[in-house]
Amino acid sequence: MAKSLDEMFPREIVEALDKYIIGQSDAKKMIAIAIRNRSRRKLLENSIGDEIIPKNIMMIGPTGVGKTEIARRIAKLANAPFIKVEATKYTEVGYVGRDVESMVKDLMAASIQLVQSEFSALKEQEIETRVNEKLLDLLMPSLANTMEITDIETSPRDKFRELLKQGKLEDKEVEIKVNPTSRVEIGVMGNGNGMDDIQEAMKNLGSIFQQPRRRKLSVKRAREILKEEEFDRTIDKEKVIEEAKKRTEEMGIIFIDEIDKIAGGSNPSSRGEVSREGVQRDILPIVEGTKVSSKWGVIDTTNILFIAAGAFSLSKPSDLIPELQGRFPIRVELNDLSADDFYRILTEPSNAITKQYEALIGTEGVKLDFTEGGVRRIAELAYEVNQNTDNIGARRLYTIMERLLEEVSFSADQIVGQTIPITEQYVNERLENVVSHQDLSRYIL
Ligand SMILES: Nc1ncnc2c1ncn2[C@@H]1O[C@H](COP(=O)(O)OP(=O)(O)OP(=O)(O)O)[C@@H](O)[C@H]1O
Ligand SMILES: [Mg+2]
Repeated sequence: MAKSLDEMFPREIVEALDKYIIGQSDAKKMIAIAIRNRSRRKLLENSIGDEIIPKNIMMIGPTGVGKTEIARRIAKLANAPFIKVEATKYTEVGYVGRDVESMVKDLMAASIQLVQSEFSALKEQEIETRVNEKLLDLLMPSLANTMEITDIETSPRDKFRELLKQGKLEDKEVEIKVNPTSRVEIGVMGNGNGMDDIQEAMKNLGSIFQQPRRRKLSVKRAREILKEEEFDRTIDKEKVIEEAKKRTEEMGIIFIDEIDKIAGGSNPSSRGEVSREGVQRDILPIVEGTKVSSKWGVIDTTNILFIAAGAFSLSKPSDLIPELQGRFPIRVELNDLSADDFYRILTEPSNAITKQYEALIGTEGVKLDFTEGGVRRIAELAYEVNQNTDNIGARRLYTIMERLLEEVSFSADQIVGQTIPITEQYVNERLENVVSHQDLSRYIL
């Protein structure tokens, strides 16, 4: 199994990010250090460890250079609770909408899911066996009548157990009791979509009046339900919550994207500004360290690491209220991407765009062959268009690729079995015209 985030050294975190994100080494480094410092702190004795609070990071950089992408990748690495939120989603306390405290609850929900799946992985075998035995209990009476047992050596139960394991009884029907309450509870434990507490309470209330119902289901579906019930029975929920809370408080990371969108900015008189500043003010205590009460108990945010990111094209970090600026002491700038970076983005990551298109078109039996010259040319043109019109960073690659492969994408069925070499010439033929006319590229690319 891959190392979990809290065991990784900064160098390893950077290496893992390198697989997907080209350049931006400063940002990757700072984040890796900040993450590692949490694990270091955990090893300290309490007296000094308590004094060390995480240094929150603000990532600043033009649009489309990888800010959000870094967050997405950390989320995939993270074995630590991690969520990414958009600052624009929140409203000031007292207004309709989500208040900022809900991000802490969402983090906790993510943590619970994480811990729960870890715990259940440990018990997987045990639960599997028990569920199968239960299914056998249910199946035996009806099966014994319909199926002939020729083999006298093995008992019928063993025989059916074997069949069940081989998946040969999946479509048989069994009757089980479906308990509405247990289903709700799983929803509460499982999904981190931050459903409002009131809504949830209503749902729980509703389920009190619902009696468990007997239903006929396929073995396959019954297994899913029995498994969930069995999980609930074997896994100590209190323990899950306790562990999840500990991890949230000690290792949790909240990535606040689009922080620039709640900064004051150019026209302070417009409406809505008040609310934006309100959101900033609401965020303050959470970043500073406060206690958020949730249905899982009180969560202390002191040691949660916050990473904020924003393009700050219309506003500056200094447009944020000063208190908030001060709570993000580490600033990292992400750099503009060069044509060379574009080339690497097109080819290097394991999910690189060229690979995506190859796979996509490949499903219809047409092979795309990206030549080095062709890809270089794509990168150059993307860079050129960015310079001449708006600079939208690596997102330009998507628009260019879409345009470039429009014809192949449309008529792949006509050329099944062929290989299309994407050479420099091919790229030029298809794109040069559009790129050289600024007005045209403004609309098309
Ligand atoms: N450095 C990079 N390495 C690899 N891919 C990148 C890089 N920068 C951007 N991309 C690609 O461009 C897309 C857009 O990048 P991303 O979402 O990170 O932009 P952003 O910096 O968050 O911009 P915005 O400020 O507009 O939100 C990503 O989906 C990713 O595929
Ligand atoms: Mg972004």
